[in-house]
Amino acid sequence: MVKWVIMITVRVERNEDIGAIHLVNRMAFGQEDEAVLVQRIRESSGFIPALSLVAVKDSRVVGHILFSQIHIVTPKEDVAVLSLAPMAVLPEFQNLGIGSQLVNTGLEKCRESGHTIVVVIGHPQYYPRFGFVPAGKKGLDLLFSVPAEAFMVCELLPNALDGIEGTVIYPPEFAEAM
Ligand SMILES: CC(C)(COP(=O)(O)OP(=O)(O)OC[C@H]1O[C@@H](n2cnc3c(N)ncnc32)[C@H](O)[C@@H]1OP(=O)(O)O)[C@@H](O)C(=O)NCCC(=O)NCCS
Repeated sequence: MVKWVIMITVRVERNEDIGAIHLVNRMAFGQEDEAVLVQRIRESSGFIPALSLVAVKDSRVVGHILFSQIHIVTPKEDVAVLSLAPMAVLPEFQNLGIGSQLVNTGLEKCRESGHTIVVVIGHPQYYPRFGFVPAGKKGLDLLFSVPAEAFMVCELLPNALDGIEGTVIYPPEFAEAM
């Protein structure tokens, strides 16, 4: 089946986008939690301004994706990695390829800025198409329980996870959204 792919621009968030980003998350998830999570991450030390991206259609913010810093704790060291969370597309713009453009552009920007590992907890039918694989199979675990297939990781460089096995630690900002 041929799918429509809508023309959008993906760019870094600006101050004037903050209200629209809140709305996109609230509308997409049908609740406030993820919109509040974005705000909390934005105020935290893990926030990376260059990795909060918006999808813009005709000057309107219709989608958002956020990558922020978290850690994998191994027996030897703490490894800084990225969390992909949350991502959202306005309901009336879903299934038009916007989410895919946000993930692909986002992962490219992560790679360009030197990051090599991205963790996500999300739809197991969605993220594998972008290179995410089950994190448990790579020797990673969590301090809380989620369905195994929903906990995924993407290596932005081949073998980036070699020698890194341990626990993915989400900072307190995430507590209420998990
Ligand atoms: C998930 C989301 C960001 C995808 O954005 P999008 O612009 O609709 O995505 P695309 O058009 O690039 O891709 C559409 C694909 O995503 C799949 N998809 C959408 N929502 C999904 C869900 N809840 N579970 C699994 N797959 C989903 C569609 O089935 C479609 O699959 P196909 O290509 O095999 O037909 C968007 O649907 C959304 O905002 N959902 C609500 C919030 C959410 O669940 N965020 C992600 C948290 S992990």
